[in-house]
Amino acid sequence: MIRFGIIGCGIMGLRQARQLQDPEFQPHATVSAVYDSDPTRSRAAASEFGAKACATLEEVVSGDLVDAVYIATPDDAHREPFLAAIDSGLAVLVEKPLATTLDDARAMLAACKELRQVAEVNWGNRWHIPFVSLKSAIAEGEVGQVRSVKAWLSNTQEVPLKMLSWASRSTCGWFLLSHVFDVTTWLTGTRPTRVFARGTKDLLREQGVDTYDYIHALVEYDDDSTGLYESSWILPPGLGRLVDFQYHIMGSTGTATVDLGHQMVEVAGAKLTRWPREVSYARDRMFAFIEACNAGVGTTESIESGFYNTATLVALHESLTSGEVVEIASA
Ligand SMILES: NC(=O)c1ccc[n+]([C@@H]2O[C@H](COP(=O)([O-])OP(=O)(O)OC[C@H]3O[C@@H](n4cnc5c(N)ncnc54)[C@H](O)[C@@H]3O)[C@@H](O)[C@H]2O)c1
Repeated sequence: MIRFGIIGCGIMGLRQARQLQDPEFQPHATVSAVYDSDPTRSRAAASEFGAKACATLEEVVSGDLVDAVYIATPDDAHREPFLAAIDSGLAVLVEKPLATTLDDARAMLAACKELRQVAEVNWGNRWHIPFVSLKSAIAEGEVGQVRSVKAWLSNTQEVPLKMLSWASRSTCGWFLLSHVFDVTTWLTGTRPTRVFARGTKDLLREQGVDTYDYIHALVEYDDDSTGLYESSWILPPGLGRLVDFQYHIMGSTGTATVDLGHQMVEVAGAKLTRWPREVSYARDRMFAFIEACNAGVGTTESIESGFYNTATLVALHESLTSGEVVEIASA
């Protein structure tokens, strides 16, 4: 039985804690402690999950309250809880992106050099059935050598305007392209080398959220393949779903396309057609983390991927402001 501490009791923290309450998780995991920098959120979560409301981060990680923590603080606030949990010998599942600065990402990777526990980024799409299937197709040589990727992952404007109070401290790059960049390096085993990006701040800024409306990025990889990516935070509310995700690979002998926009179910009403998100990876991903915790031994692969993912996004944001092609830093 893995005793979880939930750090950050917002949308994702509560979602994961509720998932851990499902009967199928019950014999394997429990939520023992919760912590949020907003004490009213800690108290509400504690009463919902029958867990201890911790007043400080220190209280979650020290002592013998929990075996693992799930970190779901805003994009730029992962470092402190991550380092505290690693230092205390706890298993860690940290939300993507690993960090939003090279300094944070380097410190987090360095803390895992002599890893005694499981430490992973929540790269959920690695458990997403369509991408699992795509990885097998690539491994079996069905598309030959991957030469280029074209993908977009976007949200409706509700996400930056209504859901994320910290949207102006993040971008659709940090929030969304982090997922897509990990999918590519996980599928192809490549390392990103250079990036060129353009984007505008216009519509969201007018509505009080100072962040990019959209970002276009061209990423080069160390096998000379390229990825062309788009992410937007201004899709219209009438889209019928929060997320649009399309992923296309061109290989030397074949192509492959994943459409995660329309997920097999279409519901049409008098005013709206919607596509409920039915193909979810959250359950399989959490079970995989629990299994790793039970096995007890971690690798640094996930955190190292997190470092290169952050390095790509740091370079991307530099390119957005400089207008130059930017080299991606190494660990
Ligand atoms: N894997 C996915 O598919 C997925 C989906 C959505 C969000 N995310 C990621 O999850 C993370 C959280 O996103 P969210 O949508 O739940 O945000 P949120 O704003 O709903 O929740 C964040 C919570 O963290 C708390 N908090 C802020 N600073 C803190 C600190 N220093 N210590 C403790 N608590 C702190 C806030 O009070 C808030 O309750 C982000 O990194 C986001 O990118 C991942």
